[in-house]
Amino acid sequence: MDRSDWRQDRRRVKHLLQEEQSQGEVFVQGWLRTVRRSKEVAFLALNDGSCLDNLQIVVGEGSSAFAVASQLGTGACVGVRGEMVASPGEGQSWEVQAEQVIVYGETDDRFPLQKKRHGFEFLRSIAHLRPRTNAFGAVFRMRSSIAHAVHCFFQQRGFIYVHTPIITANDCEGAGEMFRVTTLNPENPPRVDGRIAWHDDFFGSKTGLTVSGQLQAELFATAFTDVYTFGPTFRAENSNTSRHASEFWMIEPEVAFADLAVNCQLAEDFFRFMVEHALEHCQEDLAFFNKFIDKGLIARLEKVVGTAFQSMSYTEAIERLQKSGQNFDFPVEWGCDLQSEHERYLTEQIVGGPLFVTDYPEGIKAFYMRSNDDGQTVAAMDLLVPKVGEIIGGSQREERLDMLQHKMRSFDILPESLDWYLDTRRWGNCPHAGFGLGFERFLMYVTGRENVRDVIPFPRTPGNARF
Ligand code: 4AD
Ligand code: MG
Repeated sequence: MDRSDWRQDRRRVKHLLQEEQSQGEVFVQGWLRTVRRSKEVAFLALNDGSCLDNLQIVVGEGSSAFAVASQLGTGACVGVRGEMVASPGEGQSWEVQAEQVIVYGETDDRFPLQKKRHGFEFLRSIAHLRPRTNAFGAVFRMRSSIAHAVHCFFQQRGFIYVHTPIITANDCEGAGEMFRVTTLNPENPPRVDGRIAWHDDFFGSKTGLTVSGQLQAELFATAFTDVYTFGPTFRAENSNTSRHASEFWMIEPEVAFADLAVNCQLAEDFFRFMVEHALEHCQEDLAFFNKFIDKGLIARLEKVVGTAFQSMSYTEAIERLQKSGQNFDFPVEWGCDLQSEHERYLTEQIVGGPLFVTDYPEGIKAFYMRSNDDGQTVAAMDLLVPKVGEIIGGSQREERLDMLQHKMRSFDILPESLDWYLDTRRWGNCPHAGFGLGFERFLMYVTGRENVRDVIPFPRTPGNARF
């Protein structure tokens, strides 16, 4: 490859297509989505990932590039130099009359993305190639843009971004769903009295991949007031649903001097900010989803931006579900965990929009949530949204040391094992609250995609970590 041809004067397709005037001779690089040719002319649809649209490259029989272009197939990687001219064809403003075509990467007819449309199931089996389709190009451009919006929201409000650890000795959610991290020999681990001697392991204790950065975020909130984490999260939960991934990304703000009401307001503002961002900055990709994946998507997002979220207590939610006359697979009674079918009925049928459910029974929520005065419920909140169900889980935290220690014991957690965490309650304690938003769940909501595997580049789910 001639280095002088490389990048220096390269233009991105997105910017070229937006130009008001021809830029004269231009140089573009990308991958061919389609190749059509006759004896006199070849049409190459070039995509460089900067936008959904392709740039049409026209190679006339008279051009010295015609022989090269005639050999090209779908999927090939090329650079093209040529004159940018108004396109007589429909659907595009500009095209390029090629004078030179450089072939970086050839292809052949075994390249799997020859057809225009493929099923998502098939595309999951070629996750290494699916970014080169329209649907996944749109998803991953939106994922990038919305990740940026997460930082904008919190940074504009003075929150400090904390990188909480990925390897940890604590199961924050207490659900025992951690992936083990170890350097012990699996064939013959050291044992004491028949039990594995974890103190001989690399970190001197039993460690795993984090299920949540919350406990460490709480510590940082006692120094910086308002903090957030945004990082990978791991759960070894063997549930093969369309909403659970074993590796996903979570955003967790933690706010000092906040109660449950402040927490819900922050969650609502954050959620709305991100939807507004998508409507404003991801128009082309959203329009694609609205046309091909979910016809009501844009109208639904626009409505969400303009309406205040509703809220009801868990107790009221149970009453409303019981009165609904619906036949649920899982029976509804006070004290039960809300199943996905219940959550979706509440947000889709009863409310018809986002819904905060608050004040859950103590027994079905994590140990760190603050006990309410009724002695039965905790200051918890879940945000439920149509089509996805639970998208946010959060709470006011139990800041009273004795109550927290008591609660830990009743959950079979040794207070000594989280001594460092309890220190926040010993010195300079304050009321505080926070929540976690599942980034993939949010992307499902905002793209209309119904499977978590289709909004994360390389999904990890039970039985699947191939790519
Ligand atoms: O409700 P969760 O388990 O809450 C926590 O982890 C708290 N420590 C958060 C906090 O208060 N700082 O998880 C929060 C969110 C869920 O509402 C869901 O959106 C997402 O994380 N989530 C998952 N997303 C994809 N795959 C999974 N297996 C998920 N588990 C949770
Ligand atoms: Mg939850």
